[in-house]
Amino acid sequence: MPHSSTPESAAAVEPEPIVYLNGEYLAQSQARVSVLDRGFLFGDGVYEVIPVYGGKPLRLNEHLNRLQRSMGRVSMSDPLSREDWKAVFQDLLDRNPGADRSIYLQVTRGAAPLRDLSIDDDIQPTVFIMVNAIKLIDYAKIEAGIEAITVEDFRWKACDIKSVSLIANVMVRLLANQSSAVDAIMVRDGLVTEATASNVFVVHKGVIATPPNSEHLLPGITRDLVIELAQSNGFELIERDIQASELVTADEIWLTSSTREIAPVVKLDQRPVGGGVAGDSWKKMITLYKEYKQALRNG
Ligand code: PDD
Repeated sequence: MPHSSTPESAAAVEPEPIVYLNGEYLAQSQARVSVLDRGFLFGDGVYEVIPVYGGKPLRLNEHLNRLQRSMGRVSMSDPLSREDWKAVFQDLLDRNPGADRSIYLQVTRGAAPLRDLSIDDDIQPTVFIMVNAIKLIDYAKIEAGIEAITVEDFRWKACDIKSVSLIANVMVRLLANQSSAVDAIMVRDGLVTEATASNVFVVHKGVIATPPNSEHLLPGITRDLVIELAQSNGFELIERDIQASELVTADEIWLTSSTREIAPVVKLDQRPVGGGVAGDSWKKMITLYKEYKQALRNG
């Protein structure tokens, strides 16, 4: 067979993503950041991940509120107005057409002339945004559940900041992957905090619980949505401290995030959770979540 480019193979080549970097729209491979950028040198930056369904960002204002909160916590000022953020997102979504997508944005403190922990007030923040495809979520696959382990939470006491300094999360995720689990639920002083990139819910006899927001966990947007959906649909849900020992007796454990939605944990530390399959409360909650997404698409 001659080695030629057929129309089929040409059509299979994905167009290169267009990203936003400091006011410019560029092909991803052309985007460059200085080696002196404090995001690169110190992990000195914050980020957000915003899912987009049918062209509509889910809980956009809540994500932008959290971004502002993260920036406030690290004494960075917001480089764009809310209207500008929204306009850039729309531009970028238009330039990267597709079905379900997620917006990743990160703001670092920028590049100073010298590597120095002290902050040079004259530097400009680096603003980077990209759009990624969300693979069509296969709910049958989600229902099959995931395996997790528990790990001591050795992170700092500022986990409420959505910081790009994620080395501890990387280390914990590695521990999980090395024991053939997909994630780890972290425990600090005997209490459940969160997973490496998700919040945690437990269900006991139909009552749902999740740890209260604190400096030990990220105030998840999906977490808030699940709480709202539970409350407006007659579930009993309590925000309270969860002892690590309750993970062993839980009927259900869920991990929630913008990209994972609501994932049932069916095996924890090699033991089945509840009946070892996704539970009834999860089935009801995922139905409500899907309906919420559909309403967003239709709205
Ligand atoms: N992570 N906790 C941590 C440590 C997280 O990194 C995330 C999200 C969450 C859930 O937050 P939300 O529901 O707002 O997505 C909780 C994103 C998805 C990520 O890092 O890719």
